[in-house]
Parts: sequence; structure tokens; C-alpha cells
Amino acid sequence: MAKNIFVGEIIKNEEIRPDYFLMKVRLPHSFDHPRPGQFVMIRIAGLAEPFLGRPISIYSYHLRKSSGEIELLYRVVGKGTQILAGLISGSQVEVHGPLGGSYSLSPEKENIVLIAGGIGVAPLSLLAQYLCKNTSAATSRLSFYLGAQTAKEIVGLDKLSKLCYKMKICTDDGSRGRKLLVTEAFQEDILKYDPADTAVYACGPRGMIKALAGILSPGKFFCQVSLEERMACGTGACMGCAVAVKGGSGDVVYKRVCSDGPVFNLEDIVWE
Ligand SMILES: Cc1cc2nc3c(=O)[nH]c(=O)nc-3n(C[C@H](O)[C@H](O)[C@H](O)COP(=O)(O)OP(=O)(O)OC[C@H]3O[C@@H](n4cnc5c(N)ncnc54)[C@H](O)[C@@H]3O)c2cc1C
Ligand code: FES
Repeated sequence: MAKNIFVGEIIKNEEIRPDYFLMKVRLPHSFDHPRPGQFVMIRIAGLAEPFLGRPISIYSYHLRKSSGEIELLYRVVGKGTQILAGLISGSQVEVHGPLGGSYSLSPEKENIVLIAGGIGVAPLSLLAQYLCKNTSAATSRLSFYLGAQTAKEIVGLDKLSKLCYKMKICTDDGSRGRKLLVTEAFQEDILKYDPADTAVYACGPRGMIKALAGILSPGKFFCQVSLEERMACGTGACMGCAVAVKGGSGDVVYKRVCSDGPVFNLEDIVWE
């Protein structure tokens, strides 16, 4: 077994909203301390179907005396997540990770702006926790823009509202917060942020990230995004998650979201 594949025990797997689950998994102490933006590939231990794990961001992490605990916030969309949703406390899962790279922290910037679409809230929550706990970035410097299709898809607010001074919530249908796209909500405020003194971090559907690229002039703001491409192996072996990015000499190269990402500089992504 690879060094970073672990068998974990589910401590909790609770439906917090229809189709949204919060899973807590106890892992051996040797599970590496995850950094914000990293994810795990998770599957049921010993079960052949589905053979491939599913990538889920690490939502929170706690180091206990003799173990580590991760929380995963996930939405049921298909077979793999449906199977995860059916697991009860005490079930064993195979957890591969932490995988991928993390957001580069810029705690020295005066403004830290987090922009999440839907379940993209998960890695950004870990980032907010991390910044508040391990750096000089105070809660008062964190602004969170959270958008979703409807109120039903707004999750993770309990944790975030304790961490972020300013929260803006919007939904496509206006059922919670303002009836606006989350990128439009950010655009309304953009002049309040000095580009030289602001770090923007985002995670959400491809359309949201592309819209953000249209708003932020290249090179002006420091902006990193986590991509949620579909994955197969999750370890860099199959190229199934390749995305086009700018190469060093202005050419287009393909990078793997699982091993080269999932975090990329927004200005490096090539929109085909
Ligand atoms: C780095 C990374 C981190 C992620 N973190 C989270 C997380 O924290 N919480 C969470 O709920 N999900 C997260 N995802 C997405 C999650 O991995 C997929 O929803 C999951 O793999 C779907 O598996 P499934 O078997 O249930 O669905 P499938 O049967 O594989 O697919 C069902 C439907 O969902 C669509 N779909 C599947 N995967 C994706 C995807 N990556 N993006 C958009 N549509 C997709 C398919 O096109 C299909 O329509 C993350 C993905 C990546 C790459
Ligand atoms: S999923 Fe196989 S290379 Fe990324």
C-alpha cells in the first residue's frame, strides 16, 4: 500500500441539508497535517465497487492525542457520493492523502478575500481556519463571498461566520441573501480592495472561476483558485484531469489538477 493510503473509521456522517453530508473520519496519527486546498481520495475500504476513490477537499482537521480527524463536506451527485452517504458510524473507509498542493498563504496582505461557489466553500473554510489560527491574519481582514443556486445549497455558514468579519451571501434565485452571482457581488465591492494589498482565493464551478478571470485584470490582484475537475486516479498517473495553463515561454501546456493542482494562479489558466 502506498505510504499515504490509510484506513479510517467514520465517527460521524450526518445529512446536514438534503443531499449534503458532513463526514468525520478518524485516521492514524501518521496522516500528514493537511494544508488548505489539499484533498483526499476516499472509497469504502475493501470494496471493489466503485474501484476509484472520489476526490473530496479537506474541510477541517484536528490532531488528537493518538489520531488525526478530518471532516469532509460533500454533496451527493452520483454513485460514489451516494455510497459514501449510506455509510454509518464505525464503517471503514480508505483515505488516500492529503493530496495535491495548497493555497499559498499571503497573510501579509491587508485584505483576504475568499470567494466560494456551492461546495467550493469546503477548502476555503479550511483556509480561513488556517489563516486565523496559524498566521497574523485577523478575522477582521477576511471577507467571504458565498454563492449558490438556491438557499438549499448554502452550507458551511456556521463555521465561517465565526471566522470572517464580512460575509456576503447570494443565490441565483434570491432565496437567500441577494439575488446575484457571487462574482457580481465581489465585483460590486472590488474598488474597496487595493490590488497591491489584497489576496483573492476562490473555489467553485468552472463558470464561476472563468467569470472571476474576466473581472480580475491579469497580474493586478494575487489570485489563486482551486479547480474541481473530474478525476480518475487522483495521483498524476492518467492525465484524466488535465487543464490548459500558460507555459513559461507563453505556450500552452497541460497540467494535472490532482498532482500539479488543484490550486492554480488564476492568471495562468487558459480558457479554451
Ligand atoms: C480537488 C477536488 C476537490 C473536491 N472537493 C469536493 C468537496 O469538498 N465536496 C464535494 O461535494 N465535492 C467535491 N469535489 C467533487 C467531487 O469529487 C465529485 O462530486 C464526485 O467525485 C462525484 O462522484 P460521484 O461518483 O458521486 O458522481 P459521478 O457518478 O462521477 O458523477 C455524477 C454527476 O456529477 C458530475 N460530476 C462528477 N464529478 C464532478 C466534478 N468534479 N465537478 C463537476 N461535476 C462533477 C458528473 O458529470 C455527473 O453529472 C471535488 C473535486 C475535486 C477534483
Ligand atoms: S486524475 Fe489521473 S492524472 Fe489526475
